[in-house]
Amino acid sequence: MGTQSLPSTPTSRAARLAGALGATWLALAAAGCGDFSGAADSGNSTPTSGPGTVFDPTNVPGSREAFETTLYPLLTQYCVNCHANGPGSPQFANPTSGTAYTEILAQNKVNLADPPSSRIVRKLIDEQHNCWSDCTTDANMLEAAVQAWADAIHFGQGGVSIGETLSSTSLRLADGTEDTSVQRYDTDIIARWDFKEGAGAVAFDTSGVQPSIDLALQGGVTWLTAWGVQIDTGIVQGMSGNRKLYDRIADPKTGSGQYTVEAWITNASTALEGPARIITYSANTNARNFTLGQVMYQYDFRNRGVSPDVSGNGTPSLITYDADQDLQDRLQHVVITYDALRGRRINVDGKWTEDVDPVSPPPRLWNWDRNFTFALGNEITQDRQWKGQVRFVAIYDRALTDAQIVQNFNAGVGKRISMNFDVSHWAGPGSSIEFQVSEFDNASYMFCNPIFHTPQPSGYELAHVRIAVNGTLAPTGQGFVTLDTPITDTRTVLSQRCTVIPKGPDPATDEFNIVFEDLGGFQNVITEPVPPPAVVQLDPTARPTYGVRDYARIRESMASVTGVSALVPAIDAAYQDLEQQLPSTFDVRSFVSSQQVGISKLALEFCDALVESAPLRTTFFGSFPFTTEPVAVFGAAATPNTVNRNQIADALYNHMVGSGLTVQPSLTDMRADLSGLVDTLVASCLGTPCDAERTQAIVKGECTAVLASAAVSMH
Ligand code: HEC
Repeated sequence: MGTQSLPSTPTSRAARLAGALGATWLALAAAGCGDFSGAADSGNSTPTSGPGTVFDPTNVPGSREAFETTLYPLLTQYCVNCHANGPGSPQFANPTSGTAYTEILAQNKVNLADPPSSRIVRKLIDEQHNCWSDCTTDANMLEAAVQAWADAIHFGQGGVSIGETLSSTSLRLADGTEDTSVQRYDTDIIARWDFKEGAGAVAFDTSGVQPSIDLALQGGVTWLTAWGVQIDTGIVQGMSGNRKLYDRIADPKTGSGQYTVEAWITNASTALEGPARIITYSANTNARNFTLGQVMYQYDFRNRGVSPDVSGNGTPSLITYDADQDLQDRLQHVVITYDALRGRRINVDGKWTEDVDPVSPPPRLWNWDRNFTFALGNEITQDRQWKGQVRFVAIYDRALTDAQIVQNFNAGVGKRISMNFDVSHWAGPGSSIEFQVSEFDNASYMFCNPIFHTPQPSGYELAHVRIAVNGTLAPTGQGFVTLDTPITDTRTVLSQRCTVIPKGPDPATDEFNIVFEDLGGFQNVITEPVPPPAVVQLDPTARPTYGVRDYARIRESMASVTGVSALVPAIDAAYQDLEQQLPSTFDVRSFVSSQQVGISKLALEFCDALVESAPLRTTFFGSFPFTTEPVAVFGAAATPNTVNRNQIADALYNHMVGSGLTVQPSLTDMRADLSGLVDTLVASCLGTPCDAERTQAIVKGECTAVLASAAVSMH
C-alpha cells in the first residue's frame, strides 16, 4: 500500500481499495462482529432517560452558517420572488436566513446525505419549475450548493460532524505517554534498530553493544510515522561497525557460532524475486555471510559456513515451502536462526515454518568474511531490490528458542501510547476516559482497553462510545458503540478490546475526541447516516470460547460463499492454527499480528481449494481459461483483457461482496482494484513466460484479497 495516506472518509475509493486488497484495517475488522456479550457491553439498548437533546446531524453547529454561504444566496437570488413570503411555499428564500434555514430543513427540501435527490434540485429537473436559465444547469448549481453545505459539516462523507455532542476534550498523539509495559526477550542482542528517528538519513543501532552499526538511508527510503522505514528503491546500509557481527558470531575465538536475525517487516508485494534482499550481510550477488531474501511468496535464508557443502554464497538456500505462501504482503514477524545443531530455521509470526535445512548444518562459521557490509532492502551492489517497510530489526549472537521467538512476536512492534481524555465537563471534576492508542498501519489507528476514571462514581450511565478523528465520527470500526455500563467505581474497565479507526490526513496533527451518547446523566443520541459499524472484537482470556466461536463463524461464512467444504485438510489445519493463535493472555499486540494473519491465511486456503478444484471453480467463476498462461488470459497492464478480468472480479463481487459489506465497494471500483492487482501479478510473466499455474495463482490472489476483507460483514 505504500506511503499513500488514506483520507479519513472510509467510503472513499482509496479506503475501499485498501479494504478490497487486504489492507489491514478492513481485514482486521473481520475478527470482530459476533457475540458481543461482555459484562460491560450489555447490548444495544437505546437510551431512554436523562436530559439532553436529540442529535440532529443537519443541525450541528456551523450548519446554518454553511447554509447561509452556500445555498441561501442562490435561493435569495433566483427563487426570492415567490419563496420569500409567498405565494411559493416553503419560505426558503425568506429575508431572515434563520427562517429560511428552518423552513428548508423542516420540509425536507434538501437531502444532505444525497444532494442530487434534493427536492429543490428535482423540482427544477422534473418539473421545469421556475428555472432562471436552463433547468439542468440551474439544478446543477443548486445541487453543487447543497453538496458544499453537506461537505462543510462532513455530512454524507462517511462521518458525522460531532459538533457539540457529549464529547471529551480533544487530544493528539503527542499528548499521550508511551506505554512500555510489555516485555520482549532482549538478552544476547548485539545489534538493534528501532527506527524511531522519524527523520534524517541515519537509523541508529540502539543495542548499546559497540561498535554501533548505524545505518545510512540511501535512495527512495522514507520514514514511517509509526516507527520504521519504507524502502521503495535504494538501500539501508551499515556505515561502520559491520565487523561486530563477524566478531561476535563467526570469529573462531570470540564468536558464538550461532545467531538470530529478528525483523518486523511488511513486504510491499509478493511479486519480487532475485531473491530480493530483505536483510543481508554480504558483498555482492555471489558473496555473503547471511541473507534473508524474498522470492515471491517464499522466504529464502542463506548462510555461509565451513563444510560440508555450503558455498561462499550461502547456498543452497533454506527456502520456505512454495505452497505454504509464508511470505505475505502485510506486517510479518520474521525470525531466522542458525546453530550448528539444528542448522537454519525460519519462524514467521511466532511459528516455525517447518522447513528443514536441506544441508546438514555446517558446524563452523569461520569462513565468514569480516569485511562484508550489513544492509536492508538490497544487495550491497544494489541490484537485488526488495520493497517494503521495516519496523524493527535485531541481531542476537544466540539462536533464540521457539518460546523466546513467540514472546517477541507477542510483544509486537511500534509505539503504544496511553491517552487520557478529560470528560470532567460531563462527569464531574477529575473524570476521564483512558485508551491505549497505537498507529496500527499507515491507514489506521488502533484504540484499545478503555478505562473510565472518576472520583465520583455515582452510578450514572456511560453508554455508546465512539471515537472521532478531527471532529468526525468514522462510520467504520466504532467497536465501542455497544458499551453501556453504570459507573459505580472510581476505575471501571469498560472493555478489553480494540478497535481500528481510519486515520486522518496526518498523525502528527490528527485530533481525537471520545464521544458518548450517555454520560454523567446527559444524553445525546447520535443518528448515523451510514450502516452500522464493523467491529473488532477481542476477548479476554476469561472467555476464550467467544473468540473461537467467532472464528468458527468466519470459517462457516467462507465455506458458504466459496462453496468449499471447511473440512478440506489444508483448511482444517489453517483453522486449527488460527484457533491456537488466539492470545494465550489477553494482549493487543498478539491480536494484531496473529489473528489478522489467521484470517488471511484461512481465506487463502479456501481460495486455494476453490481454484484448484475444476468443478468448484467452474461453478463459482463459470467456464474460464484456467489452464492457459496468464498473459494470454489477462493481458498486460497496457492491453488488459477486460472481459476475462471482469469475469473473475464479477464472480467474486457477486458471491462475496454483493451480500452486504459494511462499507460496500461498487462493482466498478472492485473491478478496477482487482485489475490493478492483476497488473502487478502478471507483470513478471511478460519477460519470461509463466505457466498456466500462474493464472490460477493470480485468481487465488484476487480471491484471497476479497475474501479476507469481505469477512468483515459475513456474519
Ligand atoms: C413564480 C413563483 C415561483 C418561483 C420564482 C419559484 N417557485 Fe417554487 N413554488 C412556487 C409555488 C406557487 C409553489 C407551491 C405549489 C407547488 O408545490 O408547486 C412552489 C413550491 C416549490 C417547492 C415545494 C413543492 C414541492 O414540489 O416540493 C419547491 C421545492 C420549489 N418551489 C422550488 C423552487 C426553487 C428551487 C425555486 C428557485 C429556483 C423556485 N421554486 C422558484 C412558485 C415559485
